Parts: sequence; structure tokens; C-alpha cells
Amino acid sequence: MKTIIVTGGAGYIGSHTLIELLQTTDFKIVSIDNYSNSDASTYQRVSQITNKPFDQIDIDLCDKKALNESLNKYPKIDGIIHFAAFKTVPESVTLPVKYYNNNLVSLLNLLDYCKEKNIRHFIFSSSCSVYGNADELPVTEETPLKKAESSYAHTKQIGEEILNYFAPSVPDFKAIILRYFNPVGAHISGLNGELPISKPNNLVPIITQTASGKNNLTVFGNDYNTPDGTCIRDYIHVTDIATAHVKALLYLFESGAPEKLSVFNLGTGKGVSVLEAIKSFEKMSGQQLNYTIGGRRAGDVIAVYANNEKAKTKLKWEPQLTIDDMMLSAWKWQENLNKGLVKLYS
Ligand code: WQD
Repeated sequence: MKTIIVTGGAGYIGSHTLIELLQTTDFKIVSIDNYSNSDASTYQRVSQITNKPFDQIDIDLCDKKALNESLNKYPKIDGIIHFAAFKTVPESVTLPVKYYNNNLVSLLNLLDYCKEKNIRHFIFSSSCSVYGNADELPVTEETPLKKAESSYAHTKQIGEEILNYFAPSVPDFKAIILRYFNPVGAHISGLNGELPISKPNNLVPIITQTASGKNNLTVFGNDYNTPDGTCIRDYIHVTDIATAHVKALLYLFESGAPEKLSVFNLGTGKGVSVLEAIKSFEKMSGQQLNYTIGGRRAGDVIAVYANNEKAKTKLKWEPQLTIDDMMLSAWKWQENLNKGLVKLYS
């Protein structure tokens, strides 16, 4: 049985990927998390949903000694899915050193361990923010990367570059870079979803909190050169992101996967504006959303959405869920949070 390490497994995308791995493979799953942006209660909900066992290691990946000692317990590790990273864009603008330190040292420690222990399959969590303000839309994996708009996005660009140089240095090592567009929504059971530790920055949790009277949504600008004046993004259901990781692992394990390093866009290929997202939420939740129109947010790109053909053909992956599914699942999760069904952050 293959052993797979999932770093950041208590996080938003990580925990949804744990669920898909546990429910659709017979891999032995080991999750590593230091709860810097997540909560251990998430593991209980993963177990509740899947009723499958998995190991958890509560360490900081930047602690090389702790990492090596923890992983040495496993006789053989067949692959690593590396989610763990700081990812709050506005915070990364004010605290760049925190982001470079955490996001890069953790990656380097993992890659060092891969070389030492001959771990030959690696999946790196990247982001559409590596494209910056792209000149062409939709973006393909070959679209030239522009200047990163934040140190968070820059750590993802650097991480990809590190893999570009690391992969050829280790015989038989194969890596996949997955560039997520905007992951949103919650698990269909309503028992797992985004759990911001502090005030969220991302649109969808702010929408669901606003509908619950716990936040106030401001639309950041309606004077952009787009059909309705608001920014356009490629929102993709977190479960579709999770299933892509399972497909990527299977692609790596297939003997036929020829590339030492390959990159895939994980988006739906559809651009949705902020106002369209709000309309979808109102339709699916039956809630009238109160919001105000404010000024533009620094660092926002006007529009970005994916050409996802490469992932569809090579990974045999197809996003299944629509913006309406995303909004309904996000609202169901928020309602369960409101009812106290899951631990709330103080
Ligand atoms: C979406 C749209 C905002 C909040 C970020 C990261 C990206 C990825 C996804 C990690 C924008 C508008 C938002 C609000 C608003 N994260 N908005 N009012 O910035 O596209 O992407 O999250 O991988 O790397 O950069 O996501 O949800 O913050 O914003 O009008 O209160 O919603 O202006 O147009 P973003 P977002």
C-alpha cells in the first residue's frame, strides 16, 4: 500500500483533499499540520465524513529535525502533496519576510528529505496569482508569468522555480505543479469548509458571513473595464480541486507519466464577476445580500480565468461543480457554523 504525506492537511484545500484520498484510494494517508492557519477539529470532521483512519503529525515543516524524525517512522513514502503555506495576500504585502521564510524553508526542508529518502513523487500547491496581470485570457500554462502582485504570489513563483531546478537533480523524481484559481465552496455534507481563523479576506466567506449578519461586504470597485464593472475570477469548487490532486497522484504513479516536472491550471475556464457571484449566492441561498460598493483593492487583477484543457486531457480531470453549487455549499456550511455544529474560532 502506498504511503502519501499531505502537508497542511488540516487546512481548507488540504482537508478536502484528505477526504477525497481517503474515500477514493487505498493509500495510507499521513497529514502534517502545525495549525498556524487551521484547527485540529478539522481532522475530527474528516473522520466523521470518511470513517477512515489516517495519521496526523503536529509539527512545523520549518523545523527540519522534527520533520525528519517524524517522517523517518515511515519505512517508505511514495508521494508528498505539499499544501502547507501562508496564503493571506494582504498580510503577505505587509509581512514579506514571514512569507518568504515560512513558504520557502518548508519547501526546501521537504525537498531535502525527498532527495535523502528517495521520495520520487511530489505535488506542489501553486496559484493563479503567479500569472499576475496576464496579457492574454484565458491563461494557459505557457502564459508568461508577470510580476507577482504580492510576496505570497512571489513565494509561489519562487517555489515553482525551485522545483524547476530540483527535479532534474534527482533521478526518477517527478513533480506536478497545480495552479489553483479561486477555490471556494464547502464539502457537500456541510461538515467541512473554509474556517478562517481571523476575519476572512476572500470574497465567498465574506459573502456568507455578511448574509449571517457577521460581516459587511464591500465590493472593491465597480469601475473596471469589465461587462458589469467588477473584477472577474475563475471560481472553482474546493472538491473539484481536491479530486484533481487524486488524479495528479495517479498520473505521477503511472509509468507513462514522462515529464520530470509538469504544470496544470485548476480552474473551470469560466470567468465570473463579483456581482455575478453575489447574484448566484442570492439565488441559491434565498438570502438578499446587503453590500456597499467601495473603492478598488490594491493588488487586484482585473480579470483572470483558466484554460484548463491540459489538466482535462492529461490528468483526465473535469471540474463537475458550478458557481451555483459553490454558493449553495458555502451557505450550507455557514449555516452549520452559525448553528454551532462545528468549533468556532474565538
Ligand atoms: C475575489 C474578488 C476582489 C473581498 C486570492 C489569492 C489567490 C487565491 C484566491 C490562494 C476580487 C473581490 C473580495 C471583498 C470584494 N488564494 N472582493 N470584496 O484576490 O482573487 O485571490 O484568493 O491561492 O492566490 O490572491 O480572491 O476572494 O480575495 O477576491 O469585492 O470583501 O472579490 O476584489 O475581485 P483573489 P478574493
